[in-house]
Amino acid sequence: MDNSLHQDYIRLINEINSYNYYYHVLDQSIVSDAEFDSLIRKLRAIESQNPGWITKDSPTQRVGAVPVSKFGKVIHPLPILSLANAFNEKDLIDWRERIFKLDPRVKSTGYVIEPKIDGLTVVLHYQNGQFVLGATRGNGEIGEDITSNIRTIRSIPMTIPIEKTSNRTVPSNVVVRGEVYISIPDFETLNDELLKNGEKIYLNPRNTAAGSLRQLDPKITSKRPLKLLAYSIVMSNSTEFTSQWEILKFLRDVGFPVSDLSVYCKTFEDVLVEVKKLAAKRDDINFEIDGLVIKIDDLDLANDLGFVGKDPRGAIALKFPAREEITTMVDIGVNVGRTGVLTPFAILEPVEIGGVIVKQATLHNFDYILEKDIRIGDRVLVKRAGDVIPYIIGPILETRKGSEKVFSPPLICPVCGQETEKLADEVAWYCVNSGCPAQLVRNIEYFVSRSAMDIVGMGIKIVEILVRENVVKDVADLYSLTVSDLLPLEGFAQKKAENLINAIQISKQRPLSRLITALGIRGVGEVMASELTKYFHDLDELSQASEEILMSIEGIGPNIARQLVDWFQKDTNKHLLWKLKENGVWPIEVSSSKKSENQPLAGLTFVVTGTLENFSRDSVKEYIEANGGKVTGSVSKSTNFVLVGENPGSKVDKAIELNIKIIRENDLTTMVNKP
Ligand code: IVH
Repeated sequence: MDNSLHQDYIRLINEINSYNYYYHVLDQSIVSDAEFDSLIRKLRAIESQNPGWITKDSPTQRVGAVPVSKFGKVIHPLPILSLANAFNEKDLIDWRERIFKLDPRVKSTGYVIEPKIDGLTVVLHYQNGQFVLGATRGNGEIGEDITSNIRTIRSIPMTIPIEKTSNRTVPSNVVVRGEVYISIPDFETLNDELLKNGEKIYLNPRNTAAGSLRQLDPKITSKRPLKLLAYSIVMSNSTEFTSQWEILKFLRDVGFPVSDLSVYCKTFEDVLVEVKKLAAKRDDINFEIDGLVIKIDDLDLANDLGFVGKDPRGAIALKFPAREEITTMVDIGVNVGRTGVLTPFAILEPVEIGGVIVKQATLHNFDYILEKDIRIGDRVLVKRAGDVIPYIIGPILETRKGSEKVFSPPLICPVCGQETEKLADEVAWYCVNSGCPAQLVRNIEYFVSRSAMDIVGMGIKIVEILVRENVVKDVADLYSLTVSDLLPLEGFAQKKAENLINAIQISKQRPLSRLITALGIRGVGEVMASELTKYFHDLDELSQASEEILMSIEGIGPNIARQLVDWFQKDTNKHLLWKLKENGVWPIEVSSSKKSENQPLAGLTFVVTGTLENFSRDSVKEYIEANGGKVTGSVSKSTNFVLVGENPGSKVDKAIELNIKIIRENDLTTMVNKP
């Protein structure tokens, strides 16, 4: 044997394994991809010349085992247990009370909090420092032999040092427990690739990890971005371990990836504080966790506490509210949006997700239904997380019965019954009937909303009634409404009707940018509307602008320019503008030089306190400023007026103290209109 070449070979293995450790365990790249590849090529060359030298810990041996037809069985050396659950702080306090009653040592023990990784338990056997066997949990007593698949997971060490590590004799035989998982970004990349290749995509990282670990061909597993986090020692031929925190340190020292989110807590009070901090981090972690595990640090104590049924008393899982549940999708409904766009939504058999009953979920668009092959009657996975609207992740294909129905986009609008259209270059289907009542409702809803004309008190219910009763046929009709028009309608008494009419009339004073936004022209939002008012001083001027002129404005491309011109060319819209003008809804943007001439509130400073009847906080500020005044946050000698609404704060007292004039909403509008 060529001794020096053999030494090179061993050195090369160690070098590559060390780079792998940095990359897969410590998340650090210390060599370039090209250098790494060239080392691997060198290694393969030596191995092909000297096949007898190949050792099990050679990086080339991670993949290479032949596919199996079925996994063998593994009897676990000790039962692979699970944990009792807690769902809130009180459950944790009760747990600690219970175990304290059983053993007074609980009073002074420390605790370890670990993330509860939402993956799959694996049991890893090492003999004489070599990885020899990897198993699934199975039923806790007997698992499946997935050794070849485990080998492909680069963050799992194939060798652990058995010489002294951090002043500790490393057990030569040890069985380690950990969780195999896929990170969220890796999951998304993988699914994108599968989709591109026309393959079946996975529902969530956990399912993907499970599916990948149970592949009979390790070559497939090796292509999946599986990772490990180790957290306990099931058994070892050393009796040295007395603390869970030390176990985590040991596992890290010998080369296992261990979550750095784990924390040691000296007291139970600290546990309650840390648990809250960790729970708040849930969305910032790049892998899914479904809770936290709180463990008594003193392993002798944990052991002595024994079991309730099969659950050890010395640890507890604090489960986070669920974010995904499976339920039946009974039907698909279709919403009609402001622009006529049709959006499908799932009608669900009600299901509780994280404390909220979910009955509907979005399906995004018709292509999504097709892509995910979601059928009516399917069992579906529904996700509800944070403030996001619940959505369907996909169907559970395994439980499909065959009676499920494929859905096709509606050929007629579900609200007005007119034919729908799919525009060639868009995913969406549209109801192109501009008189469709559903579109009108959405249009008005948008027109009166906070960011548009801000008509206070005009909610969706009222809008629906106005449209249903045919009182309003377009947004301009709002301005000819009278109290007597409203009184016969559902839910209107004199005062409410008066308030609403008042709020509508006041909205005539909103600046031009808000009116442009309110028209809901596609692509023209608040920012764009503001920009337009720098060049066009009323809707007449804007309606005459050509595409070229519009495109010369920063931020306006050919699409928006065309949308604007098209909008103003439509007869219905021309008519609408005429009606708005007739009704006095015609704000004029005064150029800054002219502004001061026509500004009744010029030089006056206002402070606003309490809830106003006809203005939101934003719109009253805008109103005062549009008329030359200034709004400040606190009352001082330089304040001219304090505008008071319902339930005012201490600013009123301050105004009285400083002798500053207190006014009401109608005083303000009088100052502006009859200066
Ligand atoms: S300790 C007796 N620690 O959560 C020891 N489990 O029931 C029990 N899990 O299915 C396990 N992260 O696979 C422990 N840091 C962690 C964990 C963890 C995830 C899983 C485990 C088990 C379930 C607990």
